[in-house]
Amino acid sequence: MPLVNTKKMFMDAYKNHYAVGAFNVDTLLQCQAVLEAAEECDSPVILAFSSGSRDFFHPGNIKDILEIVSKDMHIPFAIHLDHGKNFEICKSCIDEGFTSVMIDASNYDFEENIHITKEVVDYAHKKGVTVEGELGPISKRNDPRFKKYTDPEMVKEFVMRTGVDSLAVSMGTCHGLAKFGPDEKAELQFDLIEEVEKLLPGFPLVLHGSSSIPEEYLNIFNENGGELKGTRGVPEELLEKVAKTAVCKINIGTDFRVAFVGGLRKSLNDFKDRFEPRYFLIPAKEQCKKIVKEKLSNVFKSANKIGKMEKEEKICH
Ligand code: 13P
Repeated sequence: MPLVNTKKMFMDAYKNHYAVGAFNVDTLLQCQAVLEAAEECDSPVILAFSSGSRDFFHPGNIKDILEIVSKDMHIPFAIHLDHGKNFEICKSCIDEGFTSVMIDASNYDFEENIHITKEVVDYAHKKGVTVEGELGPISKRNDPRFKKYTDPEMVKEFVMRTGVDSLAVSMGTCHGLAKFGPDEKAELQFDLIEEVEKLLPGFPLVLHGSSSIPEEYLNIFNENGGELKGTRGVPEELLEKVAKTAVCKINIGTDFRVAFVGGLRKSLNDFKDRFEPRYFLIPAKEQCKKIVKEKLSNVFKSANKIGKMEKEEKICH
């Protein structure tokens, strides 16, 4: 199945109480790992590029490259811009064939955020591209705005006035290696999600900062020369619960990167007498595939959904 925008994916996720995983990628090998894992799980998936990753990967040709890589696959997938900071970067990605963009104007005040987001929505929708906004802020722990949760009434006004297709809101997570303090209870604002569900039934929310930093992957990383300290992720039980709500997209950056680099570190240690890059890159790719499959099957519960989605489409048309 083809490259798609996120519209149908999120509708199906909302209706059937699961979430679509969005994985932050930097390299073609990571894209292949995500797509192969999703194909093996029969799950929709999103490849998320930050503007830095997009510049590093190959601006202009990402869509063509990924269409070639996925030509024999059947899962629907989206190419998404993560945290686009202005209209220009969103426009470039839309013109290059991204099927989904995030405009993150959450650093601006409410009115300016609406103005910038609407400009992107108007351009994107003419080209069939879906748009995620942010009404946060989803900050880092050291940001003075940390723990300022989004107001559900403002969500309603923001969505009505901008026409965004999905919205990232601040509901208890943050970016970075430590989501919670050492003695802090790990929790998400489920009341906030319920309020939004009442005010905007059927509208998809997005959870950022959702890495769990599982011990297994952290240990591989640190036992092979890495030094990641003070990590504390979002417990997977919480993500499993949130995936059943109006949260239809869950972003995973840190876990996926730690799995890749940890796999690379381990294979560099394991094969000291080898010099062929594939000896090191194949185990790194396998680590990526493993973590993606675990998330899709055990946490987001998006595995085995494509057959069902196609069947429902046939019934509806
Ligand atoms: P993590 O760093 O928790 O994986 O979050 C990624 C993210 O939200 C990207 O926008």
